[in-house]
Amino acid sequence: MQDYPYTFGISEGIPTHYDNHITRTLSVMAGQFADQGAYDAALAEGDELLYEVYELKRPEVAGELLHGISIVHPGLVGDEYFMTKGHFHAELETAEVYYCLAGEGMMVMETPEGDWAVEELRPGRVLYVPPRWAHRSVNTSRNQDLVTFFVYPGDAGHDYGTIEAQGFRKLVLQKDGRPQILDNPHWRAPAER
Ligand code: 6PG
Ligand code: NI
Repeated sequence: MQDYPYTFGISEGIPTHYDNHITRTLSVMAGQFADQGAYDAALAEGDELLYEVYELKRPEVAGELLHGISIVHPGLVGDEYFMTKGHFHAELETAEVYYCLAGEGMMVMETPEGDWAVEELRPGRVLYVPPRWAHRSVNTSRNQDLVTFFVYPGDAGHDYGTIEAQGFRKLVLQKDGRPQILDNPHWRAPAER
């Protein structure tokens, strides 16, 4: 980490400079894919790589901007596309910007009050995730990586537990070869929890 302005390039989705390389495999997604049988069968075949994050390290304080590259690989668990764990920011009132560099996908989002949104990610498109909105990237391509650049406030932090416990309200499944947005049968309205 340096406290001097810097630039970096992005070569085939990988930043030319980074501090952390995080990899997430199937086994970190227990309970997240809708088809538990398909998940168990896939895991029995091997703990496949689902996505990777390249982070540029910055102090985790207000005023800083954490940034990096997220790469979700293509694949399916049953009918459900490979996706990130997804999270609320621990500091709920913090936003995030994504810029799609390659591939095709969707960002599934929701608020603690139960509002939801799904936006498409395409190369050259920018997505603004306002404060309060949990976010999960889904790769809807069958053969290409979904590559996004992200930036969010240094003090945001991550709340993974809420999504681990309740899932997202909407699922993105492949139906007739195309992505479809469906209700998650396991999701419960906040008032019912
Ligand atoms: C963040 C960003 C983003 C995200 C990755 C992986 O707040 O850190 O939303 O960098 O971490 O896309 O997704 P998960 O953090 O949900 O595994
Ligand atoms: Ni985030």
